[in-house]
Parts: sequence; C-alpha cells; structure tokens
Amino acid sequence: MSRYSFFKRACVSASFLALTGGQSPSSTDGVARPIFTIPASADEGANLIPNILDPQAVNAQDVCPGYRASDAQEDGQGLTATLTLAGPACNVYGTDIETLKLRVEYQAASRLAINISPANIDSTNSSHYIIPEDLIPRPQPEASYGGSDLKFAWGNNPSFWFSVTRQSTGDVLFTTKDKKLVYENQFIEFASALPEDYNLYGLGERIHGLRLGNNFTATIYAADVGDPIDRNLYGSHPFYLDTRYYETGSKRLVKNAANPGKGHNGHHGEKGSGGGAGYESRSHGVYLRNLHGQEVLLQPDSITWRTLGGSIDLFFFEGPSQVEVTKQYQISAIGLPALQPYWGFGYHQCRWGYQNWTVLRGVIDDMKAFNIPLETIWVDIDYMDQYRDFTLDPNTFKQSEVKAFFDRLHDDDQHFVPIVDSAIYIPNPNNASDAYDTYTRGNSSGAFLNNPDGSQYIGAVWPGYTVFPDWLAESGQPWWVNEMVEWHKEVPYDGIWIDMSEVSSFCVGSCGTGNVTMNPVHPPFALPGEKGNVIYEYPEGFNITNATEAASASAAASSQAAAMSTADASSTAIAYLRTTPTQGVRDVNYPPYVIDNVQGDLAVHAVSPNATHHNGVEEYDVHNIFGHQILNATYQGLLSVFPGKRPFIIGRSTFAGSGKWAGHWGGDNASKWYYMYFSIPQALSFSLFGIPMFGVDTCGFNGNTDAELCSRWMQLSAFFPFYRNHNTLSANPQEPYRWETVATASRTAMHIRYTLLPYIYTLFYHAHTTGSTVMRAVSWEFPHDPSLADIDTQFLLGPSLLVIPVLQPQATSVTAVFPGLADGASWYDWYSQTRVDAQAYVNTSIAAPLGHIPVFVRGGSVLPTQDPGYTTSASRRNAWGLIVALDGGGEAGGDLYVDDGEAVDPGRTRYVSFSAGEGRLVVHVEGEYVDGNVLGNVTVLGVGSLGSVRWNGVEVEVEGGMVRYDEQKEVLVVGLRDVTRDGAWRGGWTLSWK
Ligand code: NOJ
Repeated sequence: MSRYSFFKRACVSASFLALTGGQSPSSTDGVARPIFTIPASADEGANLIPNILDPQAVNAQDVCPGYRASDAQEDGQGLTATLTLAGPACNVYGTDIETLKLRVEYQAASRLAINISPANIDSTNSSHYIIPEDLIPRPQPEASYGGSDLKFAWGNNPSFWFSVTRQSTGDVLFTTKDKKLVYENQFIEFASALPEDYNLYGLGERIHGLRLGNNFTATIYAADVGDPIDRNLYGSHPFYLDTRYYETGSKRLVKNAANPGKGHNGHHGEKGSGGGAGYESRSHGVYLRNLHGQEVLLQPDSITWRTLGGSIDLFFFEGPSQVEVTKQYQISAIGLPALQPYWGFGYHQCRWGYQNWTVLRGVIDDMKAFNIPLETIWVDIDYMDQYRDFTLDPNTFKQSEVKAFFDRLHDDDQHFVPIVDSAIYIPNPNNASDAYDTYTRGNSSGAFLNNPDGSQYIGAVWPGYTVFPDWLAESGQPWWVNEMVEWHKEVPYDGIWIDMSEVSSFCVGSCGTGNVTMNPVHPPFALPGEKGNVIYEYPEGFNITNATEAASASAAASSQAAAMSTADASSTAIAYLRTTPTQGVRDVNYPPYVIDNVQGDLAVHAVSPNATHHNGVEEYDVHNIFGHQILNATYQGLLSVFPGKRPFIIGRSTFAGSGKWAGHWGGDNASKWYYMYFSIPQALSFSLFGIPMFGVDTCGFNGNTDAELCSRWMQLSAFFPFYRNHNTLSANPQEPYRWETVATASRTAMHIRYTLLPYIYTLFYHAHTTGSTVMRAVSWEFPHDPSLADIDTQFLLGPSLLVIPVLQPQATSVTAVFPGLADGASWYDWYSQTRVDAQAYVNTSIAAPLGHIPVFVRGGSVLPTQDPGYTTSASRRNAWGLIVALDGGGEAGGDLYVDDGEAVDPGRTRYVSFSAGEGRLVVHVEGEYVDGNVLGNVTVLGVGSLGSVRWNGVEVEVEGGMVRYDEQKEVLVVGLRDVTRDGAWRGGWTLSWK
C-alpha cells in the first residue's frame, strides 16, 4: 500500500480550507462575512516523476521473464494457447499474472484480433478490469472471415512472441520478437519493431503534427487542460494508422518519407521533397481496446505500448489504404459517425461572458446587421444559476424573457446551444433555500459516484462542491435524460454542448467530504480576467501591426515573467513519491508505473482514480470513458426531447466511438498563429478517429486575438465541419463583425461554405453510411507520393476541395504543393475558375492577401451547390447549382444526397449521381424525397471548345444569357431555371455541350 491512503484523499483537514478576505455582497444583516474559497493547494497532487523521465526507472524488459506459450490449439478461425510466466516473477510495476490465455481470431477478411487476458479472472479478483462488451463493443468474428491477407505467427524463442504480417507482400506489420511480454495487475507492456522512419498517425488526443514522428511518447489519459503541445488532452483514442511507402511493385520500403523541411510551425520546406511516380503505399490500422491510462512510446525503431491495467485486446485492420483502414475501423470496431442535423453545418457564435439575454440578442442582431450568417448562438456557464446545470440565472437570464427570446430566434430559423457541465452541484444541507432538485433526484436514485467506503464522492467544479454522474449505475442515464427533458420545457434549446467531461474536478480527492456546508463560491484559481490571473497576450503578429498597444502588453508580460522566474529560483529540491508494488494489491491512486500525465498525479484536476461506481468498478479502470458515456446519455436525452430528430452534441472528452453520438471541439486553444495551424492536424486525426464533426475555438480561446489572425482563422474554419468562434471570459470580443477586415473575410468564406453545404452534407452522409472521411490529409487522397506523408498545412474537404490557408502573420502569399500532378491530377482555382499551372512536387507560391483563402477544385469532380442564404434553412430553399470541373480527359463525377436534414431515420431520401465525359453531363436520380428547388447554373470548368448546348437533347437558348462561355478561361455556364421549374432532381437528365 502506498503511504497515501484513501482517507488522505477523502478528507480535507480544516487547515486545508481557506477563507478569502472578500466581503459577502449579499449579507442581509449588514455584517460582512468572509467568503470561503477552496485553496489552490487542494488541487495539488503528490510529486511524481514520470517513468519515462525517471533516471531511476527500471526497464521492465531488463528484469521481467516474459512468457512461454503452450497448449496451442488451432481451430477454424484462429487459435488459443496458454501463456505461462517464463521465469520468476519480476513484479516490476505491479504483480505478475502467472497464467494468461491467448486467443487469436481471424475475425473478417480485413481484421485480425489478438486477445491476451488473465486466465483466471473471478469475481473476487478485482485487480483486472475486463471491459464488458456492452460498454465498449468488441468487434465480433464474422462468418465470412476467409481470405485474410493478415497472418498471425508466434514462437517461444527466446520467450513468447507474436507477429502479424501481410501475406501477399511479406510486410511485417507488427512483431514482438525479442521483446518480452510483461503482464501485471497494474502494468502491461508489449512492443514491436517498426521500420526506420515509420509514418504513424493517430494515438490521440493531442496537439501535435499529423505525423507523430519517431521519437515521441503519446500519453493517453483524459485531462482537463488548455491545449499543451504534445501532451495528453481531453480525449482517448488508442488507435493508429501506419502508412508505408514502397517502390512500385517491390517490397523495398522508401525511407525518409517525411518532408525534412517541416517543423512545428507547420510549414514544409521551401523546396519540394520529391516523391511521386514510381511509389505506392500500404496502410494498416491498430486499435487497442483498453480504457486504462496508457503510454505509447514511439522510438526510432520500435513502438512500445504500456497500460496501467486491463487486457491486450488488439485489432489489426488490413487496409491496405488509409481509406479502407478508416472504414474497417469504424464499421467493425467503433461505429459510424452520427448523421448531423443540417443546421449543425451553419456558423456558430459563442463566448464565455455573454452576460444576459439582451447581450445575446445584441450579438444575433449585430451579426444580421453586418450581414454575416449566424445559425446558432451559444451560451457558456454565464447563463446558469450559480453555475448549476439545468438552471437559468434568475437575474441575468430571466425565465420571463425566455419565450420572447426563443420565439424570435426560432422564427428566424436560428438555434440555441447551451453548455452543460459534467459535475452536479451538491447543495448545503443546512440551508433549505439552497436545495437543488437535479441533485436531489440524482441522489435519491443513486446516480452519483461514491468513495470506496460508500459515502458520496464530492469534488469541486464551477458551482462549488459537486458530485459526478455514475454512468455505470443503472439510474445514471435515465436520471440525466429526465433532467434534460424537464429542462427543455423551460429552456427550448436545440442542441447541447458538453464540457468538463474528463471528468474534471478542481481538487484532489473527495475534498468536499465534511465540508459541503462551507459553500465555496469561487473556483480555487483566478478566473480569466481576475486579478492575479494571466495578462492577456496578443498573437505573434500583433506587435508589428499594432505597435503602441504591443509595447504596453509586452512590458506587462515581461514583468509577470520576471516575477515568475524569481518564484522558480526560490523553489526547493523535489522529493518524488515512488510506489513500491504490494503483492496482489492495486494502488489505484499511485500506480507504481507513473505515466507522463500532463497533470502529474492522476487525481489532479480530475475525479480521483479511487472514486467508486455503484457496481464496484473503480474510476481508475474507466476514467477515459466518462466523456464518452456522458455523450451517450446526452444523445439519449436529446432523442427523448426531440423524438425521431438527430441530436446535435459537441463534447469535450471523447473515446473511440464517440462519433456515433457527437462531434468534438478542440477546446481551450489560444489566440496564436501556431494554434491555428494545429487545428488542421487535430481535425485530420479526428477524421481517423471517426469523429468528423470537428472544429476548434476559431480566432483563439485564451488571450486576445487580433484582426489579422481572426480574419485568417474565420476563413480557415469555414472549411472545417464544425465552425464556431469561441472566446474566453474577459478577453477582447472577437465576433467577426468587430473588425471590418474580419467581417469581409468571414462573409467571403461563409459564402463559399454555404454554397457548398450540399457537398459537405453529402460527405457526411457518406461518413455516416460508409466511414469515409470528411476532412482529409493530402497523403490519403494521393497515396503514391511519399513526400506528402507529413503534410498538414493544407488539406482536402472531401475528395474534391483543396484548402491552402495562410498560417503565418504578415503574409500575402502561401507556398504549397498541388498534389497528384505527376499522376494527371488537375486543379482549378475556386475564384478564377481557371486551371492551375503548377509543377509536380514543387512548392508553389500562391497569392493570398488578407481576406483571401486559396481554395482549389480537383479536376474530375462534380460539386453540388446551393445559393447561400442567411441560414441553412434559407439556403435549403434556394436554387441548386453544379460545378463540373473536368479532368485532363474531359471527365468528372460526383454525387448529392438530399433528405429533410433532421430525421434520425430519414424515410425518404434522394440520391443524385453525376457523371461527365465526352462533352456531356449525365444525371441519374434515385429515391423519393421531394425537393422542388430549381437548378440555377451548371458551371463547367475546362471546356476547351463549345458546340451546341442541349438539355435532354433540346438545344438551350443562347439568347437571354442562358448560355455563357468564356473561351479564354474555358468556362461554360448554363442557366437551367426554366427547364427545371418542377425541381432540379425530379428525374434524370442530360446536358451536352459538344
Ligand atoms: C472550459 C471549456 O473548454 C471552455 O470552452 C469554456 O468556455 C469554459 N470551460 C467555461 O465554461
């Protein structure tokens, strides 16, 4: 047992408490009373040194014996074997498990499962948590598993090892040969060799370049922390994509695939790094179905996976392309992403600090006055009564004003999304007027987490002392659903924003135990903007464009920095807590192996690992899925509120599979240029994780933004699936109308986004039905070019749109590669509609003055469009359009999915496919959904010569502007309003121009 017992965690001594000198503003007797605040020290944990940084750390490979396999039995679909410790137990970071069982399953042609778990798990042995299949579904063997190209092999020399190879090519995808398997109650380690300069992607969530690199440790442990680079963050995604490049037709790997010039500023080298013709790539995916805190060590020649418990439940997805890997992972393992309501793709405006209904109304009106589309207004915790979920502040967000506010909002086809926090206020039992029904109902139904002794676990979040929903308790989800249903009767919200779901708590342990009558009214740290907190910084370019303000800001920042460095210098040497394992007993608070958690101690700023669920499971075993489960509960809640309608949810903490319920925002970035860059690899990673509905705090959350950064960012985010501007409390306002340049830039980009809503929506339909991605890395669309392996400064939206944002201040141009040129790809500039003249593999300079985001349409695409309206509803009533971008051979293809935009199971749908070639466009229509909108223009790019224009064989009048042809640009525009009066997609048709 470590010297820190449960009681140290559960009880807070009187000396732990602090009273601020503040005066109670509300004392009715006129006597000033001190206000209690939980001291900052309550959120300090033990001093731990992460194992990977600890010079004293023992390498398990040096001291552990490994295992020996016996009783191997092959059956039709795989094999089983017994693994026995191959020598004396090492008990290095826990207690060695003597006997394990191995089960290998060829589950499907494209999927191999390897499971290693303790042979004897009984109900009395709680030290190994095996995930129930109904909690996190386990991919199941399929009847048609034959023909797998993956091959499992194993041996006992020098100790048990296994490998997975791709039979057709002989590629070794994973091999534990010469690495020992370590399997203890609180520590599991397995490792594989990897080829030199491997390209791995995934292993989230983190702020990092898309390609993870070959010398990096990925910690996976859900943490509430404002976007530190390279550290663990909100979500947990134990999945990676491994892409290998080869010379075509050979088994020879191409090394140094990565572009050497690219650093963390996200700008690849000045010179293109070659690649292209003569190469091919093969990708596979690996998913570890394990919920524990874990680390994945990426070293130059190997990958090592370490977890704090659970089992090895590994799944290999054969690919052999990224596209197939991602589909296989979602379809068979984690589930396909939710189909979003159409309105979710409109523009969302948010901030922390919208103080009342009038301010909210003002923002909505200002957006309209400046003619910047606004679909949804969001409210942060400001609206709540003392930060309690499912309430309204009676002074600032009066119930009496709700009806008028919502009637107008909804009449204007606009939406409202409030934040809902994960923790629930626990009222002062000695004060009847403090009663809080949401707590009372949850408490009486047993819906909250406990301490190991059965008392309630009481942490602290915004409202003061709080309890936390127990999603493993039978009553947890029904209680939450009921709260949502009841609250909707008072506040007719349209979707939900789930926050603090890691799950965050502002103190270590059950700090409220015995203290709930103290009623803290303030978190144990200064809120943004309060005295003692950050001096707001400005983005990097600000001091050039705004010289005067910058001088005072940087003087203030340096005095703060000086104060901090003095404090650092005076700090004393640190003694680290190192836990010696106790035979057969787990120490969940201080596991002997210390992962490199960004918060250090696992209990800092989070519910402690020893919090206990009603079914006896410790939070230690399921910490990483709190956020996943609250999304599930919220999804069920919205289904009850809006039966049959698609829930709209954006959540902070996610796990593998959360995409089937919600989208995610990359919360709490800063108004810095590099965070704008990082939004791209973060989004692309979430494409791999099956959560395509992703966006970040546009213009930056922490710190003050400026006009230039916000202009660029509003334009970049317009091409992300989830498009929201969000800002921290008391930072300068950053709604897009605050600066003329930002307003103009936003209108420009939003015009493109709203024009492309049918294309974006169709991409989501495919994501939802097939697992294809929405935001795409160029390397996924152009898999033959090794030089694209780490490009994340440009991306594709679907297969057809290439976005090349400016990511640096003071730039008027951007350099980028036009991928695929050597293989015949062609690109058209969105704005000029002319074909790009660029060289293959060469970084090309593209003009990009402020207000202009370079966007290119891929030759060979047909993009469905609709004339943009102020809202998505208005857009849906407008004329359709098509952009046909012909490739070098004069061909193009695309499709369009149409439904009512809101039903979970849209009974009636319409699917339209487009195919162009030999001077004509053929449109094929299926399905019953009725849409009566006309077709405005068909714009054909790359029409070298024009013959007669015919619609279904009948010549279209050239007079009246129905046909316009720009010979120089090679652009043909055909207006078809008249002939499509009854609806553009009523039936198939043909348009020819030869
Ligand atoms: C943390 C969230 O990440 C942020 O977006 C929000 O504004 C604050 N909590 C306050 O609710």
